[in-house]
Amino acid sequence: MAGTRGKTDMMTVSAPAKVNLSLRILGKRPDGYHTLESVMQMLALADTLTISEADALYFTCSNPALESADNLVMRAAQLLQGISPHSLGARMHLEKQIPVQAGLGGGSSDAAAALAALNVLWDIRLPLDKLATLAATLGSDIPFFLNGPCALVCGRGETVYPVVHQTPGHVVLVKPSAGLSTPRVYADLHADLLTESSQTGQLPETMALLQALNSGNIEAVAHTICNDLEASALTLLPELTNLRARMLQAGCLAVILCGSGSTLCGICDSSSRSLTIASMLANDGLWTWAGDWLLPTDNS
Ligand code: C5P
Repeated sequence: MAGTRGKTDMMTVSAPAKVNLSLRILGKRPDGYHTLESVMQMLALADTLTISEADALYFTCSNPALESADNLVMRAAQLLQGISPHSLGARMHLEKQIPVQAGLGGGSSDAAAALAALNVLWDIRLPLDKLATLAATLGSDIPFFLNGPCALVCGRGETVYPVVHQTPGHVVLVKPSAGLSTPRVYADLHADLLTESSQTGQLPETMALLQALNSGNIEAVAHTICNDLEASALTLLPELTNLRARMLQAGCLAVILCGSGSTLCGICDSSSRSLTIASMLANDGLWTWAGDWLLPTDNS
């Protein structure tokens, strides 16, 4: 959650998108999930959740297709409601900016924003670690969004180590009209696409990325980004290969798939370059966004 505004009887909460600067899949677990090692970074692109007290739970959304009882915002509220001895309600409205099936973590971020805001609004005062444990039962990425703006995420996603760095990142996001289903991308991940790990510590490439973020050198960051889901996503959606080539040709330092896709994230050396590439590809009818990633100072 990037921040809350307002009195405690009416709150406006920002729910930022994320990009995985690295996503290494280390193996499949007996429960069907995968063990991963990922450096996740929040972006300035965000949904906005407005919450006020009410007699029961109500949920509306600027995108009517998402306005259902199984939306993660509603499920997060019900989960928190379930651990309180009191009868609690809230009116929740979500303004969507983050596209769906995009790999940008929008739904997970919305859920984290709801958990954090309702924990305050309902005066439940669950400590952050307990809230994160609860969040992990709803979705693997949600614990990260209770932390941030940057973190090393391990296990299924429930182990989150905040990473504090001050390297500014100018990015351009480009999403084809087709989305990608996360379970489908994981299902097509064959054993030879996994990253071998001795399980004795962080992978060398994760260490290199963390060092690059620490050094403030965006070119070093661009050279160390990686995503094990790319091969599977590019097979499912071949147009991503051409799109990535166009983004590199237009001047991105590096291009990476966001999570399980279908958004591509280009890292640029300036905000003017990311804006230029975004407007060029928007002319082709693609969804684009240009902006910066969040630094600790943006997250107060
Ligand atoms: O936890 P969440 O419901 O967000 O995960 C969505 C899908 O992503 C899962 O159904 C699974 O296919 C895949 N996944 C995985 N391993 C993880 C996280 C997600 O296989 N650590």
